[in-house]
Parts: sequence; C-alpha cells; structure tokens
Amino acid sequence: MKELPKHSVGIIDSHAHVVKEFFGEEREEVIQRSFDQGVVQMVNPGVVLTNVGELVDIADRHPNIYIALGLHPHEAKDWTQDSEDLIEKMSSHPKVVGVGECGLDFFYNNSDHDSQVKCFRAQCRLAKRLNKPIIVHCRDAWDEAFDILQEEGAGKGLRGVFHCFTGGPEHLPRIAELDFYVSFSGIVTFPNAKALQEAAKTVPENRILVETDCPFLAPQKVRGKKNEPQYVWYVAEKLAELRGSSVEQIARSAADNTRLLFSLPVPILN
Ligand code: NI
Repeated sequence: MKELPKHSVGIIDSHAHVVKEFFGEEREEVIQRSFDQGVVQMVNPGVVLTNVGELVDIADRHPNIYIALGLHPHEAKDWTQDSEDLIEKMSSHPKVVGVGECGLDFFYNNSDHDSQVKCFRAQCRLAKRLNKPIIVHCRDAWDEAFDILQEEGAGKGLRGVFHCFTGGPEHLPRIAELDFYVSFSGIVTFPNAKALQEAAKTVPENRILVETDCPFLAPQKVRGKKNEPQYVWYVAEKLAELRGSSVEQIARSAADNTRLLFSLPVPILN
C-alpha cells in the first residue's frame, strides 16, 4: 500500500460506519489500524435502529469513538413514534453526540418522498430538542433539504453538517446561510468530481470536516478496496492540494471543527 500522508497532528474521521454489518469479525482490527495510523477520534453514525446496542457497546469500549443515532432516508418508510422514542431515550448516553444520519435521497428513492420528508423533519426536531447536531445525508435533494432545515430552525438552535458532500460551488451560499458544516469524503479525490473539487477550494476553513463514510467510497489511491477510517488522510491530502494548504493544517482545522460541532473533548491518547 502507498504510504499514508499521516502527520503527528492526528485526524478525526467524522463519519465512519465501523460496524459488524460492514466489517464482520474484522471490525476491531479496522478500528485498531485506524488508531495506529493517527486517527485520534471518530464518529460512528447509525443508519438503522436495529444496531443501537452494538453502537453503544463500541462507544463504551473505545474512549475515542463517539456515536450518533438516526434513521437513514433509505429506511424512512419504517419511521414510527417508537423510532423517535428510542433515539431520544438512548441519546442520554454520554457518547451519543449527534442525531443521524438522516436526510433526503431522491436518487435511490428507496423510501417514498413523503416518508423521507416526515422522517427527516422528525429528526431535525429531535436534534433541536436534544441540543445535538444533525448529520445530513442529501442526494439529489438540495433545495428541499435546504428549505426543510431552514424551516426547522437551522442557524437558530438547529446545527449540523452535510455529510459526504457531493454538491458544487452553487450550493455553498445556502449552506453558509444555514450555518452548517461541510464534510468531505473520498469522492473529492475522484478525478471526475470537478464541481465538488471547485467547492472544496472555497468552503471556509472553519466549516470543513473530513470523513470516510466507510466501508463505502474508498479514496482514489485505494479505490476498489474496502474503505476504512485510516484512509481519511487521503481526503485531507486532496483538500490540502486543492486549497494550497498542508495535510497537517487541514487535519488540524477539520479536527477543531469536528470537536466544536459534536462537543468532543480533546482525545485521550495512550
Ligand atoms: Ni454514512
């Protein structure tokens, strides 16, 4: 493998699905490898509500892994009052730092439009009530997602991040208005992601997060492999190249921003 561009400063993977569903028995090794490569903290967000117990268990055993609880737009048709009650109840756990991932996905449309909107709005309200940031998945749904976030109080108590950002420069003014963060994934390293790369050049440095969204979307240098948190360095490397900055600087700023958004402490390192 090509050597990772890692730096002593450390990095945070702000969105990593390190669960058995995706990594099976290798899950703990993947976590350890990431820590060995300078990933100092990570946020592991829920997609379904059937593995909340597993997420809590991971967070309990690993001081530097935090979790978020939510229902993905693909599963939105399954949203009920029980879903909301479960997230609310479990969110009193000290390692639960956000609501999500949730949002709108009109590319796959695995759940119908109205179910997605209902499920997303409910989680926006929950996030606001719990005073936790929301992790937004948005695909082919920009205007509607922006409108919903605005109506639900973005910038006025509702905080959050557009995770795995796939938009272009034209989406940034609205995101700035909402006062949301922008999280870049391995997609920014793909040669054909020109609009996204243009956006990456102009997002204010105090709004940038980096993530892998593993096991999906391995960065270009390891494309075709299963993605894992250690490869978040390649995302920072690409952002540094696009912005005329250094990997160290991007990793540091993104870590500061992630800690501010999710209220994470400075990590405990052995
Ligand atoms: Ni995700």
